[in-house]
Amino acid sequence: MTANRTEPETAKLITSPKCAAKLLQAGKLVAFGTETVYGLGADATNAQAVAGIYTAKGRPSFNPLICHFASAEAAFQHVRPNAMAQKLAEQFWPGPLTMVLPRQAASPVSQLAGAGLPTLAVRVPAHPVAHEMLALAGRPIAAPSANRSGHISPTSAAHVLASLGGRIAAVLDSGPCAVGLESTVLDLSGPAAVLLRPGGITREALEAAIGPLSTATAPGAALASPGMLASHYAPSLPVRLNATAPGPGEAYLAFGPAPPSALMFQLSETQNLTEAAANLFEALHWLDEHAAQHGLVAIAASPIPAIGLGLAINDRLSRAAAPRG
Ligand code: TXA
Ligand code: MG
Repeated sequence: MTANRTEPETAKLITSPKCAAKLLQAGKLVAFGTETVYGLGADATNAQAVAGIYTAKGRPSFNPLICHFASAEAAFQHVRPNAMAQKLAEQFWPGPLTMVLPRQAASPVSQLAGAGLPTLAVRVPAHPVAHEMLALAGRPIAAPSANRSGHISPTSAAHVLASLGGRIAAVLDSGPCAVGLESTVLDLSGPAAVLLRPGGITREALEAAIGPLSTATAPGAALASPGMLASHYAPSLPVRLNATAPGPGEAYLAFGPAPPSALMFQLSETQNLTEAAANLFEALHWLDEHAAQHGLVAIAASPIPAIGLGLAINDRLSRAAAPRG
């Protein structure tokens, strides 16, 4: 049998938001930097382009994508925001917050982008380059993190090229990601606000704005947020959590003063959670890449306090450590 093959694409590294917007309008896949992580963008209204995202990532097709917009006004044309959503948009957009809201029946976003759900996840990123690209594209841009499904999220153009370089049209180089962790995903489609994924905006900040949040079920237990798979963000090496020191054969992911180790990445010498969040995925990429040449076979991760951004960091680390499916 002869397979029906198309030539693999080789991603161009570009710096022009205008060029990125044109490629997106033409149905191409373009990775772009945001303040959280690099996203793999496609025109959300073009089902074929969206299908390309799932193929390039090797992502299970039940997992819905976030639609990105240049402004709250543009985002709210596709969903029905309630009072809480309006308030959060004023306070946290542009920024690392994604809101899941009931979808407008007339929205041209493809069913595939929303995985057939009656809701849509919308976000207005704060990065100026992403903002310009989105404004020029003038349409919703669906974008999951620009990594192969289940792997570590990319926080630089180089990470994207290494993971998806042969599968997409271009990477819009927007420099390193300042926040370094994905957006917080909040479900506002029901009567109570539910925290689906901890992220760049802390739970404390959200609760100060709209009152107590409920939490989605434990990782992997339900598909309330289908992306919450237990094993995710995974380096190729096994990860051991809450390790105050590396054991034999282990590289060390440190947070503050650390014992001597064969190979160590310091998330934050001063135990600053914002700095640690920004470094987390870079650290996992780096340790994964360098462990073998030091004869190491695992990563031991220092305990991280479960407050503020520590909640999101621990969430990502526990998924990196989860048994692989
Ligand atoms: O910071 C971010 O959010 C990055 C950048 C590129 O914006 N994007 C990102 O996308 O992390 P992704 O696809 O890796 O994660 C999106 C999360 C998944 O857990 C997905 O299941 C959830 O949002 N999600 C999307 N649409 C949803 C919906 N309608 N209902 C519930 N959860 C949804
Ligand atoms: Mg992801």
